[in-house]
Amino acid sequence: MEAISRIHERWKLCTFASILGCFILLMCLNRSHDVRNLVHTIALQSSSDIDFLGSGISENVKPIHQRDVKCNMFKGRWVYKPMENLLYDDFRCPFLSDQVSCQRHGRPDFQYEKWSWEAHECEIPRFDGRDMLERLRGKRVVLVGDSLNRNQWESLACLLYSAIPSSTAEVDFQNGSYKVFRAKDYNVSVEFYWSPFLVQLDTKQANGTKILRLDKIDATARRWHGADVMVFNTGHWWVHRGKFRAWDMFGYEGKLVEEMNIEKAFAMAMKTWENWVDDNVLPTKTSVYFRSISPEHKGKDWCYNVTQPIEKESPMVASFPEPLMEIVRATFHRMRTPVRYLNITELSRYRRDAHSTIYGTKTGKQLIEQKGKRPEHIADCSHWCLPGLPDTWNRLLYASMVLDTSGGGSAAGS
Ligand SMILES: *[C@@H]1O[C@H](CO)[C@@H](O)[C@H](O)[C@H]1NC(C)=O
Ligand SMILES: *[C@@H]1O[C@H](CO)[C@@H](O)[C@H](O)[C@H]1NC(C)=O
Ligand SMILES: *[C@@H]1O[C@H](CO)[C@@H](O)[C@H](O)[C@H]1NC(C)=O
Ligand SMILES: *[C@@H]1O[C@H](CO)[C@@H](O)[C@H](O)[C@H]1NC(C)=O
Ligand SMILES: *[C@@H]1O[C@H](CO)[C@@H](O)[C@H](O)[C@H]1NC(C)=O
Repeated sequence: MEAISRIHERWKLCTFASILGCFILLMCLNRSHDVRNLVHTIALQSSSDIDFLGSGISENVKPIHQRDVKCNMFKGRWVYKPMENLLYDDFRCPFLSDQVSCQRHGRPDFQYEKWSWEAHECEIPRFDGRDMLERLRGKRVVLVGDSLNRNQWESLACLLYSAIPSSTAEVDFQNGSYKVFRAKDYNVSVEFYWSPFLVQLDTKQANGTKILRLDKIDATARRWHGADVMVFNTGHWWVHRGKFRAWDMFGYEGKLVEEMNIEKAFAMAMKTWENWVDDNVLPTKTSVYFRSISPEHKGKDWCYNVTQPIEKESPMVASFPEPLMEIVRATFHRMRTPVRYLNITELSRYRRDAHSTIYGTKTGKQLIEQKGKRPEHIADCSHWCLPGLPDTWNRLLYASMVLDTSGGGSAAGS
């Protein structure tokens, strides 16, 4: 009896020890997984060598390596994440214009809000509004460009606004040409200046002629001056035709001409912008970003009534004249000031589902009835619903700040 019970005892002990052993082993495995992740993350963040701005756009943007693999935040895929919380609410953010607040205007589906961009080669930090404000403490951010940059400003203002008590926010958004959001506790301002050409569109001629002055930077430039972060874009307005064309004549070097090759005109304007930046921006103080073209989905890629992104496999149509894109790239190559290229064109091209379509001002149904038109003719396939795609552009803007500063260099260094 005694012997048996002793064997029992031992057997129990043995079992217990094995279970404990297994448990410890599991813990270790788990931990080493964590450690591996941690090492991976640190490697990512401490390397000033991450090519987060696309592949070799400019000598100014360092070609960067992580474990001999280039990490490009703009190469990746969209992942559907239905359980993820939105960072802000369409109904509660005061900055959203009618142009982009789709849920408020009757958009029935909401899957388009639930896609997350993931890079193939690295982990993009999640947007963290408080952290971004901390990084920007005492600084000015200006976004300059057309209504797509306003779309991006509205997104950034909402993202930051929702991270702080609303009593500490100050807002001024009376008109579409100038908007500002201030976080008082951080002394941060985020400003938008409408300037679709970056150069001057002179509409004050006595005879009403509108002159696009290719050799004069836009008049609002004196207010961009001194900002710590600048985000520019231009492009869409250069290719407007017919009644949408904003100018009657081009002006440069004291001359006025009616006709001019658009590439030549665009190149002149980019040169004017380049000179302004090189002459007015202190690279040790200011980070300059240029956002690439935001794609439209017209024609066969029509956006109306689309609730799913385009599949990766389907061919992509170019949404903007390649020669103009080439001029932008060539500009960065020449410049003294480092320019970070927010290369969002391709990742946005998949998001045919994310445009505001017919959900602006009136609810979609009212809009169609009121205009008595087919939806294909009134849908907005150029601007984007918010919350939505431009939040990702801003996440990448934020990520470039995080990855850059944790690399040891100053945000504006390189
Ligand atoms: C922008 O990103 C796309 C996708 O990763 C890439 O194919 C393209 O070459 C990039 N453009 C530039 C100018 O870096
Ligand atoms: C707030 O920031 C601005 C620059 O954006 C700076 O000129 C000003 O001195 C700052 N004010 C305080 C109280 O820190
Ligand atoms: C918009 O507001 C700003 C600041 O109040 C002002 O300078 C600008 O002239 C206004 N623009 C228009 C088009 O009303
Ligand atoms: C308007 O004035 C400009 C000079 O300011 C002139 O070049 C242009 O021909 C005039 N346009 C018309 C329609 O008279
Ligand atoms: C919109 O899409 C839904 C679902 O695919 C379809 O049933 C409906 O007919 C479409 N409406 C129009 C006007 O195309």
